[in-house]
Amino acid sequence: MAEKEAQTKLDAKDEKGSDKKPIAYELAEKQREISIAEFFEKNRHLLGFDNKKKALLTAVKEAVDNSLDACEEAKVLPEISVEIIDMKNERFRIIIEDNGPGIIKKHVPNIFAKLLYGSKFHTMKQSRGQQGIGISAAALYGQLTTGKPIKIISRISPNDPAYLYELHINTQKNKPEILREEETQWKKDHGTKVELEIEATYQQGGQSVDNYLKQTAVVNPHATIIYTNPKPEQIIFARATNELPKEAKEIKPHPYGVEIGMLMKMMKSTESRTLQSFFSSEFSRVSSGVAKEICSKAGILPTFKPIETNRDQAERLIRAIRETKIIAPPTDCISPIGEELLQKGLKKEINAEFYCAVTRSPDVYRGNPFQVEAAIAYGGELPADKQVRIMRFANRVPLLYQQSACAVTESITSTSWKSYGLNQSQDSLPVGPAVIAVHIASVWAPFTSEAKEAIAHYPEIIKEIKLALQECGRKLAQYTSKKSKYSDELKKRGYIEKYIPFVGEALQSILGLKKSDEEIIEKILKELLEKSRGKLEELGEDNTEYDEDFAKIGKEEEPKEKEGEEENE
Ligand SMILES: Nc1ncnc2c1ncn2[C@@H]1O[C@H](COP(=O)(O)OP(=O)(O)OP(=O)(O)O)[C@@H](O)[C@H]1O
Ligand SMILES: [Mg+2]
Repeated sequence: MAEKEAQTKLDAKDEKGSDKKPIAYELAEKQREISIAEFFEKNRHLLGFDNKKKALLTAVKEAVDNSLDACEEAKVLPEISVEIIDMKNERFRIIIEDNGPGIIKKHVPNIFAKLLYGSKFHTMKQSRGQQGIGISAAALYGQLTTGKPIKIISRISPNDPAYLYELHINTQKNKPEILREEETQWKKDHGTKVELEIEATYQQGGQSVDNYLKQTAVVNPHATIIYTNPKPEQIIFARATNELPKEAKEIKPHPYGVEIGMLMKMMKSTESRTLQSFFSSEFSRVSSGVAKEICSKAGILPTFKPIETNRDQAERLIRAIRETKIIAPPTDCISPIGEELLQKGLKKEINAEFYCAVTRSPDVYRGNPFQVEAAIAYGGELPADKQVRIMRFANRVPLLYQQSACAVTESITSTSWKSYGLNQSQDSLPVGPAVIAVHIASVWAPFTSEAKEAIAHYPEIIKEIKLALQECGRKLAQYTSKKSKYSDELKKRGYIEKYIPFVGEALQSILGLKKSDEEIIEKILKELLEKSRGKLEELGEDNTEYDEDFAKIGKEEEPKEKEGEEENE
């Protein structure tokens, strides 16, 4: 090091021919590589650890999302336990345990103590995690704020032992440091248990762990979550279905979504020896015919070696891709919740009087398939004089922060809700007794930051959300217009009911009928009114069943004794 510095000084003298060292040399001494862990050590807010309240939510969310992903990948109905223990002085211990597939021993240190290490980043299929940073970020935050290591127990089968690890992250190197590694006894046949201690505060409300878990239960009706909060109280979110979500299949990238840098990288690392086979084997929806067409439009031979392509040729290939008609990517890489289950989930957690849900057909943004679902719960105990509550979800994960920065919010505020029975002032959220839920499922949910809190404003996504909201809105409008008609009718019914006894009495006296006829008239009027409940417009269509009662009017009086009996009563 000292030798290097001396050489730098010497170089400075040689170049200038004087002792005065250019400032750039001094500045150059400060240049050094920054490890990703050091970067996030300083920028923890980018990962959702910007305040103590949010830190608790983010840490729980990262672990629970991983558990749900792992269970689904292993086709196991998730049973997840979440425990938060108050250690006093703004410290909390978080314990998350799942019944998933467990993790192979050698991967445990990197998964939990190395940032940007994971199985989902390079995979094009819907999953909650995508970046490979979530759980190690939580471990890093715990280490920074409490100095305590993250503790993991994992087991992959009843025939394998369970392993216990305690890990620290070496932030300078972004590498795990193993503090403890041993075989252990564990009651579970397979699964993973993660234990963390972090500086945090616990609060209830819209952005709390409680609400995150409640909303998670809405969009994951196949999961059971047993939650013990710091009070401690136990809340069980029981599963509403035993059916696992449809498995999301992995797909290859679609040519429409690829940019020049990515294409060049792919061409450098491909094993294909010709451009034609490169395109048809590494992209979805590219047959050899389509691959040939791309090459010919770019003016390059299909037999050209991908590894030898230069920047200019890559640019021509990108242009050729845009000019070639290629069918949309397959959509079995997405697994939506479905209208029925979304409605079921909403009903389970929100007490309202009307529910509707819509699942749109899949669409594509930047070559990435995505699918939008929307649902509305209306009326019941929901407050009528406040702005509607919004529930945002991406790949079945509730998004609780950055509402105003989210494409979902923009889609809701730019939809006209007045025609669907809700009040709204321009460009704001509608007002009324409703909850609006929107779910975006995609192979790559485009978040605005690494903290995965808000969806970016892609026009294709906003358009689809608005279409889903409008479809739900129309269903809501049908219900609200029917409801206002019924309440109108109820008012009128009230008036009529009040006057029926007087009408009966008056008719009896005007027509000179018997006292018992008055009761029959009242009965007919009441039945007529009851019969037509909720369908005033149909009134009078069919009243033949009253003929029998009408026939009794003015006929023989009932036996005297019976009348007497009644009077005595
Ligand atoms: N409970 C678990 N069971 C099995 N595998 C797990 C579990 N938790 C994490 N993993 C594995 O560890 C990897 C890294 O997890 P991490 O949360 O850091 O990243 P991610 O989930 O891939 O992406 P993101 O940063 O978006 O959360 C995951 O991709 C997964 O393969
Ligand atoms: Mg994750």
